[in-house]
Amino acid sequence: MHEPLTGKRIILGVTGGIAAYKAADLTSKLVQLGADVHVVMSDAAREFMQPLTFQALTRNPVYSSVFEGWEGDDAGHVTLAATADVVIIAPATANTIARMAYGLADDMLGAVLLATTAPLLIAPAMEHHMWHHSATQANLATMVERGAHIIEPEAGRLASGAHGDGRLANVDRILVEVRRIIGAGGPLSGNRVVITAGGTHEAIDPVRFIGNGSSGTMGIALALAAIDAGAIVHLILGPTVTIEPAGVSVERVTSALEMHAAVHRAVTDADVLIMAAAVADFRPASAATSKIKKQDGIDVQTIDLVKNPDIIASVNTDGLIKVGFAAETDDLIQNAQTKLASKGLDLMIANDAVATIGSQVSRATIISRGSRPPEQLAEMGKDALASEIIARVATLRDTGELR
Ligand SMILES: Cc1cc2nc3c(=O)[nH]c(=O)nc-3n(C[C@H](O)[C@H](O)[C@H](O)COP(=O)(O)O)c2cc1C
Repeated sequence: MHEPLTGKRIILGVTGGIAAYKAADLTSKLVQLGADVHVVMSDAAREFMQPLTFQALTRNPVYSSVFEGWEGDDAGHVTLAATADVVIIAPATANTIARMAYGLADDMLGAVLLATTAPLLIAPAMEHHMWHHSATQANLATMVERGAHIIEPEAGRLASGAHGDGRLANVDRILVEVRRIIGAGGPLSGNRVVITAGGTHEAIDPVRFIGNGSSGTMGIALALAAIDAGAIVHLILGPTVTIEPAGVSVERVTSALEMHAAVHRAVTDADVLIMAAAVADFRPASAATSKIKKQDGIDVQTIDLVKNPDIIASVNTDGLIKVGFAAETDDLIQNAQTKLASKGLDLMIANDAVATIGSQVSRATIISRGSRPPEQLAEMGKDALASEIIARVATLRDTGELR
């Protein structure tokens, strides 16, 4: 299991709204990413959730009162505040947002918030009018002025049954924001990384296309790993990608030609281009404008194909680090080395096509520009492979070569 938040200590403040139950999911996912999570609940939050749930998920004590947590070497709110890498409040009630704006320290959460210098992420959740009330908005503006990150609530069905603004942001969006905050200042800090993922559809007629089954898993894993390294990520996704990562800049394209245009637009101010998409090599010479019909007596239908542009080879932006993927069935390393040279790449990730496509694990070989021999990596999950690739991109960015 890949755990990018290993060694990170997160204080999660849970306050008294219906969405408190979603904080259990957030806690579980943070723990699965390797974080050491310490939950602090307001008294009102305890009306909605039992502390035992969070204690069991985190294996850490759950505090509410400022008079708790003073056993042994622990100095209550002072220790929690001093050791935090990030403080999250999810869900944040209107009441707690007001308490924060006024700097009240009448419970453990309020005291931790005053005593910590760690970055603060606030995920509000409340009824529509509470959210839009000028008091709530003014209190939030105060928190933004003080440097807090806000993850805006979403519109949709609220607990009251009414539709409006105020639903807690999707937990996956919160997770990406946490990773972005923790990754800030990382080895790719401030670098713009463009990543393509998924397969393309090449139209035959209005309802049919030539395509492939690429899921985009590798590209999405790369996007998250780049965020962990502090990068600003732009993802260009083909139509085969069904799960869009929350909280990441995403552009949708359908065909290879559209992806070609999108990549050329995106790289003008980028530092790194990673082409993880499975782009069709050929497209029908012309797509029929109406649905092609079966005709009696015609048993063979031919479609003329023309070559699509090689997207990564066509990008020649000065100083851009170019990373490509080669999925081959035969002569993997040799073919990958030839492609690296002909496309002017800095790194090539070579995979056995049959073993990789559609699989959650990969046994990749990393080939780099220059004389460094190919590096065979152990079999690992695509999340872990993504981190390995991003670490090498960061080294290339720093030193100009892999050593
Ligand atoms: C059933 C119920 C649901 C509530 N949901 C919310 C909510 O989603 N957001 C909110 O700001 N307050 C909500 N409240 C009001 C808060 O619980 C109340 O303002 C409380 O004082 C918040 O305390 P805290 O900020 O210390 O957790 C709800 C109250 C009840 C009874």
